[in-house]
Amino acid sequence: MDKKEDKLKEVISHAKEYGYVFPSSEIYDGLSATYDYGQLGAELKKNIKDYWWAAMVQMNEEIVGLDAAIFMHPQTWKASGHMDAFNDPMIDNKDSKKRYRADVLVEEYIEKYRDKIKKEVKKGRKRFGDDFDEEQFLATNPNVKRNQDKIDKLEAQLTEILEGDDLDALKGMIEELGIACPVSGSKNWTDVRQFNLMFATELGSVAGDASKIYLRPETAQGIFVNFLNVQKTGRMKIPFGIAQIGKAFRNEIVARQFIFRMREFEQMEMQYFVRPGEELKWYEHWKEKRNKWHKALGLGEEFYRDHDHIKLAHYANAASDIEFDFPMGFKELEGIHSRTDFDLKKHEEFSGKKLQFFDPELNKNYTPYVIETSVGLDRMFLAVLSAALKNEKLEDGSERVVLSIPPALAPYKVAVMPLTKKDGLPDKAREIIDDLKFDYNCQYDEKDSIGKRYRRQDAIGTPYHVTVDHQTLEDNTVTIRDRDTMEQERVSINDLHAIIDEKVSMKKLLKMG
Ligand code: GAP
Repeated sequence: MDKKEDKLKEVISHAKEYGYVFPSSEIYDGLSATYDYGQLGAELKKNIKDYWWAAMVQMNEEIVGLDAAIFMHPQTWKASGHMDAFNDPMIDNKDSKKRYRADVLVEEYIEKYRDKIKKEVKKGRKRFGDDFDEEQFLATNPNVKRNQDKIDKLEAQLTEILEGDDLDALKGMIEELGIACPVSGSKNWTDVRQFNLMFATELGSVAGDASKIYLRPETAQGIFVNFLNVQKTGRMKIPFGIAQIGKAFRNEIVARQFIFRMREFEQMEMQYFVRPGEELKWYEHWKEKRNKWHKALGLGEEFYRDHDHIKLAHYANAASDIEFDFPMGFKELEGIHSRTDFDLKKHEEFSGKKLQFFDPELNKNYTPYVIETSVGLDRMFLAVLSAALKNEKLEDGSERVVLSIPPALAPYKVAVMPLTKKDGLPDKAREIIDDLKFDYNCQYDEKDSIGKRYRRQDAIGTPYHVTVDHQTLEDNTVTIRDRDTMEQERVSINDLHAIIDEKVSMKKLLKMG
């Protein structure tokens, strides 16, 4: 098993052990690719939402929120194109009866050549030591070049097949490459078929009255169909934005990699309505702003990279993903798309209602252009959790597991612990919590040795640990321990609020963004 798989496994087991994420309905052996957020997970998730909502709605007077229904009129999905084109190519293995995304099988095959390149680089680094120049090595090493040529050729072939929707050619490619089912090892494949990713259900309980409706596969359409409602009732002037956080559902053929790809997930989306012709200026604006929002968390700039799309969807005139270095490698965390007037125009066409804005400055009506920012809440959660989980070697040779979650997002901001369970120390600790709990989520912890309690708080990511001891009763001071530096300081109880606030306040993050 390679290091990355190890890391993902570590994250999954830590998340379960400490009440961040549980497999859904686990007592029935779970439901594939469905997860429940536990007592700490629910807090982290809420804090991520609060950070996003504050950055969007509270910090920008021209952006307002929305909470649209998950069920929408079925015509919505005709208009948006999801009914006809929200498909993935799937293939079944006849022996194992397992279903795969046909394009992913090919991508995974290509990945093997990338792994070969990584191995060559590792060998090179070992051979040349400090003199190793990776860039030069990649450009000149014959083995690397051979593998890279193969990757380029296969990727070009796959792109052409996918763009042409050529399902027979996709099956042909799988057969030509000799790709076998990872479970059975068999190459006995069905034809490739298109599979629509929307979940359908029925509305209405009277037989014959029922009609097929869909669980929304993105939150964005709830924003588009409410564009005029919000614009008129909120007296919004272009440019303005509508922000929404909510569940979305996709019947992913291969849902895996923990909470990275699920069938039920949450999105945080914002549609920014602008004057036609000004969209690329706003696209750049939001690309920069969203990067800042992510990086303000302080997980490390090296975790992020922009991936500008070269090939654009037919409705977009610019698109970029913010990718994050997850345990599985760099993958999409957020998409920023300039979607032109495609969606509003389509809804105008299908509903027969005008979805236009009268611009008093230009003295004319137009269909606004849209910049969309769309980030997966669960992916944000995984990004924070995986970057924060660290095994640290300490100076005394011991090890500790620490979850250095950005303090503003941490489930508990402070743990208050009486040194012993006697002499009135628990009462004093509770008194401190009773004061702090109006502003911060606090945890009371009196079980086990103080060392064990510190380790437990490190492992769940609590930024501050306050210990109440006998001296506290005499001079109203406590020790406060910092999760990250492990330094302890004796401070007055009266100063606790200010000390904690300095570190955990979301204000600092919002000012950076
Ligand atoms: N309205 C645009 C839209 O939905 P998308 O790229 O399909 O675009 C946006 O999805 C974001 O939603 C992605 O960047 C990702 O973070 C998240 N997302 C998409 N599918 C997901 C899934 N199956 N599980 C978890 N998150 C997902």
